[in-house]
Amino acid sequence: MTDIRNAGTFSLGTRTVKRLGYGAMQLAGPGVFGPPKDRDAALAVLREAVASGVDHIDTSDFYGPHVTNRIIREALRPYPDDLTIVTKIGARRGEDASWLPAFSSEALAQAVQDNLRNLGLDVLDVVNLRIMFEVDGPAEGSIEEPLTALAELQRKGLVRHVGLSNATPAQVTQARAITPIVCVQNMYNIAHRQDDALIDDLARDGIAYVPFFPLGGFTPLQSSTLSTVAGRLDATPMQVALAWLLRRSPNILLIPGTSSVAHLRENLAAAGLELPDEALALLDGVAA
Ligand SMILES: NC(=O)c1ccc[n+]([C@@H]2O[C@H](COP(=O)([O-])OP(=O)(O)OC[C@H]3O[C@@H](n4cnc5c(N)ncnc54)[C@H](OP(=O)(O)O)[C@@H]3O)[C@@H](O)[C@H]2O)c1
Repeated sequence: MTDIRNAGTFSLGTRTVKRLGYGAMQLAGPGVFGPPKDRDAALAVLREAVASGVDHIDTSDFYGPHVTNRIIREALRPYPDDLTIVTKIGARRGEDASWLPAFSSEALAQAVQDNLRNLGLDVLDVVNLRIMFEVDGPAEGSIEEPLTALAELQRKGLVRHVGLSNATPAQVTQARAITPIVCVQNMYNIAHRQDDALIDDLARDGIAYVPFFPLGGFTPLQSSTLSTVAGRLDATPMQVALAWLLRRSPNILLIPGTSSVAHLRENLAAAGLELPDEALALLDGVAA
């Protein structure tokens, strides 16, 4: 089995985590709403992740809602000392499974309490403010009010570190003037590279970039180039997509999501996949 330490580490505030982590969103029911079809299988994925060395898990209390956090608590508590759980606040779910903004100070304080209770923690390692001016992608707008409210929860000792999600570069700059930002979690993968400049800027400042949908999300990546490179390297297309992200920049932390132990093992094995220069040159064409 591949040792995921091969992929190296990066810092998340005062924590250092391995660059291959796990995203828990796929553990809720269809549409990230309600319970999973097979709760035991969800518990098994989390336990296998930690047994394989994963020390960075991404979640939110709005997955389910409440579902993934409770599964994480049941699977992993008492938590290993070196496990960093990153959550996000700023959204809530409608009864029809819609994703709605929840940006008031009261809503953010409630979300922190919900995360603490459902994860069974006294303090949250990292909380990302999930910006919701538009649900499906970053959109400009001031985040001063909600971020100041989150910084106040940090000052009270409920939150160790603050990050942003679905943020524009201007919002990252605005946020960093309000409180230290340890990570930015935006959509990015081999086919969607809109954040290339932001990733490089954050790398220079030692801030982690955590791509969501690293495998394409609800419609996993499909590319003949990925398949060709994978075939040459005796790997899978998903492993190549993850290895490409690892090569892209040292501040990229991966949180691929899966509800399957087999896919989890396959994804973690990307830590051992070296991409030769000619493969990188080919892969550069995928975004085009
Ligand atoms: N901040 C945000 O707004 C935001 C938004 C979305 C996600 N996230 C976070 O980012 C994490 C990653 O994103 P994601 O889980 O949505 O998408 P993803 O990691 O890009 O892909 C997950 C999808 O790929 C499939 N998959 C995973 N490994 C596979 C493999 N080896 N072979 C074939 N298919 C595979 C999964 O299905 P199976 O279950 O069948 O493996 C699932 O359908 C989430 O878990 C969540 O923590 C954050």
